[in-house]
Amino acid sequence: MLKDVFKFVTAEEAASYVNDGDIIGFSGFTPAGCPKEVPTAIAKRAEAFHAEDKEFKIGMYTGASTGDSLDGALARANAILFRTPYQSNKDLRNALNSERAPYFDMHLSSLASHLRFGFMPKPKFAILEVCDFTEDGKLYLTTGVGISPTVAGLADHIILEWNHNHPKELNGFHDIFEPKDPPHRLPLSLLTPSDRMGTTYLQVDPKKILCVVETWRNDEVGGFSPTDEVTDKIGQNVANFLANEIKSGRVPSEFLPIQSGVGNIANAVMASLGTNPDIPNFEMYTEVIQDSVIGLLKSGKIKFASGCSLTITTPVLKEIYEDLEFFRDKLVLRPQELSNSPELARRLGLITINTALEADIFGNVNSTHVMGSKMMNGIGGSADFTRSAYISIFTTPSTAKGGKISSIVPMVSHVDQNEHSVNIIITEYGVADLRGKSPIQRAHEIIDNCVAPEYKEMLREYLELTGCCHTPQSLSACFGMHREFIKTGSMLSTKWEDYKD
Ligand code: COA
Repeated sequence: MLKDVFKFVTAEEAASYVNDGDIIGFSGFTPAGCPKEVPTAIAKRAEAFHAEDKEFKIGMYTGASTGDSLDGALARANAILFRTPYQSNKDLRNALNSERAPYFDMHLSSLASHLRFGFMPKPKFAILEVCDFTEDGKLYLTTGVGISPTVAGLADHIILEWNHNHPKELNGFHDIFEPKDPPHRLPLSLLTPSDRMGTTYLQVDPKKILCVVETWRNDEVGGFSPTDEVTDKIGQNVANFLANEIKSGRVPSEFLPIQSGVGNIANAVMASLGTNPDIPNFEMYTEVIQDSVIGLLKSGKIKFASGCSLTITTPVLKEIYEDLEFFRDKLVLRPQELSNSPELARRLGLITINTALEADIFGNVNSTHVMGSKMMNGIGGSADFTRSAYISIFTTPSTAKGGKISSIVPMVSHVDQNEHSVNIIITEYGVADLRGKSPIQRAHEIIDNCVAPEYKEMLREYLELTGCCHTPQSLSACFGMHREFIKTGSMLSTKWEDYKD
């Protein structure tokens, strides 16, 4: 009996082991598979300390974003010493943008190895959600894997959240593997998205399991916005572009595995790919598996999906759990070191589709910083995939905030992906193919095909400002559209004479 071997406690008792300055590594990836009870109890403990004027903050390593009971609760409690990597919680976003929560953004594929290399302090605790476990320390994870193997290995103590809402039959859906570190690393031996190279469980030293908290709480995955005319059109443009790539022979006729990013637009793009008759049935090798993928697995359009998490809304997750045997040979969840591995992205020949907040006319992409300074979410895995892709695609609506912002600008206000890695940009207006083009040719391709009509002339005029050089950038005017938005609330009124020397 597990209860005879391990200490079963309340979330408050588990939280009482954690003290000011402790560093914790959490399971999960996105709100999928994150612990919920203990983090909330730690936040309450922090509030109690703060009420007595005592310090209480913890360092936090997560797989990616988490649920509100983790990031939200700890941000509201002002209990964050540092936090990495990707996040998307409103209260955490506010905290890190007002310097209340020191945050550093990292490529998701690098985090586990950087922890093992000792680039950052090691966690004292690993708090992991499981659907089952054994006396000898075999842990069966739930809907997200993230950095669980690494933080479980590095931490002094492991606290388990045993979530009975996830069926024990999830056993078998995971492929857990941790590579050796250089100079002893071997090639990752996956040749197709459905290959496996690890175990279905995470083996830990059972002596490190400090306590177990039982819970029945659902993952806190928010809903997706319904698709609209713009996202539908972007999706159709992606699907038509890829169909044409197959027709032209640039993509093999049997097609290649797809990686698709996070958020509403990515969800809508996947739905369009699924309905286009010219796109063959395909496999996914991706990071997050969102709702639209599940429908496509059911219809057979997607044959197999490998990811790091099932970032699935509760009703759709229920559908999966009611029919687990159908999905058993169609889904696998791996640590982010594998799901986002540049080695595997390059070997498998991934077609990567991620979302930009803004792109510039030369092909650089900003996915993280609004107006260059306000952190939205983080780079996530977008660069893990983009740099190693067979074809890298970025999608974005041509405008934001009711047309007052053009998503295509002269120079991005922050660079996440540079012009050397971005192959294709797609908006609701069309497709810019940047392959084999000089900066000025790329600029015309993007303006002609992707920019909203009301911003086309403005960007063409920008190109004429300096009239010189390989990349005709005006250092005095390149942020003119951003500065105009900050000054007037709209980029539409930008006049270059106000911004050039
Ligand atoms: N300037 C200012 N705000 C902008 C903007 C711009 N150029 N472009 C978009 N926005 C705003 C939108 O108005 C929206 O604001 P709201 O939430 O107040 O309505 C918000 O950004 C999100 O836009 P939305 O259209 O809902 O996009 P999304 O849900 O598809 O998310 C990203 C887009 C870029 C934020 C998201 O994909 C992301 O975080 N990407 C980075 C990480 C990544 O790519 N991971 C995948 C790797 S596997």
